Amino acid sequence: MATLSNYLILVAFLLATAIETISATEEQESLFECRRHMNSHCGNKIVDVLSSQKKNKVSRECCYKIVQMGYSCHSRLTLFVSQTNAELRSKNSTHVMAKNDVIFNKCDQATKPESWQYLSNCVVKIGAKCGKQIFEKQVDSKHKVTKHCCQKLVKMGESCHINLAKALIRTPEMRDVDAIQFLHNSKKIFDQCRDLE
Ligand SMILES: *[C@@H]1O[C@H](CO)[C@@H](O)[C@H](O)[C@H]1NC(C)=O
Repeated sequence: MATLSNYLILVAFLLATAIETISATEEQESLFECRRHMNSHCGNKIVDVLSSQKKNKVSRECCYKIVQMGYSCHSRLTLFVSQTNAELRSKNSTHVMAKNDVIFNKCDQATKPESWQYLSNCVVKIGAKCGKQIFEKQVDSKHKVTKHCCQKLVKMGESCHINLAKALIRTPEMRDVDAIQFLHNSKKIFDQCRDLE
């Protein structure tokens, strides 16, 4: 049997972890480490939503941050601010933590890739060699994608490509990647390959 490429290992790994949510790596993380996965814009936004009665929606950008950070970090940060933030401290903490879960679940739904089955079909279509090439360009646009791989990408289809990107975003290795930028790059790569045809 041929040796598996890193890309396939990465994909196999992500498929195992992406459907659930990231949880394995974050168990021992300190609050300080959790904080590093969040930026102040989204942090403030989440506190706003937690402390308001209104159905204040979390943006797509901040939803990706929450999902990438993982449920355990998200909840621990909420618990921390619920005890330190003046506005939140006056609220019933049971209600605050319930809202914490609602936010996480909504964000999980809003950023979720298609099913395992769907994704593995896409991986088979693109193959390990081209998959790796495209992944490298998604991470760093200086990389090149050959014409052959471009054709395979277009044949696989945009929906597969974007769903694979959404799944990759959920892997532990990609936790601190800017998800919106990554998706934007992904779309651009697809458009460029399609225009090549
Ligand atoms: C907080 O809310 C829960 C559920 O609504 C209630 O059972 C509990 O008594 C409340 N706690 C306080 C301190 O008001």
